[in-house]
Amino acid sequence: MRKTVIAGNWKMNMTPKAAGEFIHALAPMVKGKDKCDVVLCVPFVDIAVAAEAAKGTNIKIGAQNVHFEAKGAFTGEIAADMLLEAGAEYVIIGHSERRQYFGETDETVNLRTKAALAAGLKVILCLGEVKEQRLSGITDEVVAMQTKLDLAGISEEQLKNVIIAYEPVWAIGTGLTATPEQADETCGVIRKTVAAIYSKKAADEITIQYGGSMNDGNAAELLAKANVDGGLIGGASLKTDKFTAIVDAANA
Ligand code: 13P
Repeated sequence: MRKTVIAGNWKMNMTPKAAGEFIHALAPMVKGKDKCDVVLCVPFVDIAVAAEAAKGTNIKIGAQNVHFEAKGAFTGEIAADMLLEAGAEYVIIGHSERRQYFGETDETVNLRTKAALAAGLKVILCLGEVKEQRLSGITDEVVAMQTKLDLAGISEEQLKNVIIAYEPVWAIGTGLTATPEQADETCGVIRKTVAAIYSKKAADEITIQYGGSMNDGNAAELLAKANVDGGLIGGASLKTDKFTAIVDAANA
């Protein structure tokens, strides 16, 4: 009914040369594993090389951020048409590291998402609670609110090009993973919120990934959960064998 998407988020890792070599090595390892889409979200300067290396393979390329204006005096930012022309098909928006270190808010996440969709990019929209919120029992309210604010003004038609990545902040890069039950439950809350904003059909169709220390050892049990439609993978996406093992888990 909905697509499973295994996406790597390389964060600030890999030079263009390393990106090209990685993709040439990965391509035969994930070839034909079509029960999921395979995406690599790479640093801006890697996109063109990565897209070239991924030509004729089942690997798709994405970026890790996009600005909401089409052009202008925004030093250090990047526009959607630049990403598209370089060869990106996807863009991650609202990653917790952007929210935590670079002042990203639900308002700017929403603006960026609207601009990316209008330009024709597919969006991987990241949200999730911090540790204190989970411990104080307000996870459901937090992710429901983020879902509403981040998707404000986006039509049900546009939503077809949105993947939501549920990434509990306390699980990112920490080696701590949400249990499959926690991941399933919170992805379910996000799905219910999508149903309330849009429709049951939209909720049934949207891909909701889990992200946060997903690796070759825990992917199968996370992906087995009904509400978990894939993964957004940081550290384990930097190794061809580990990333392939996650793709394999999605194809089992
Ligand atoms: P890790 O897989 O390294 O925990 O990172 C997850 C993440 O932030 C993906 O966007």
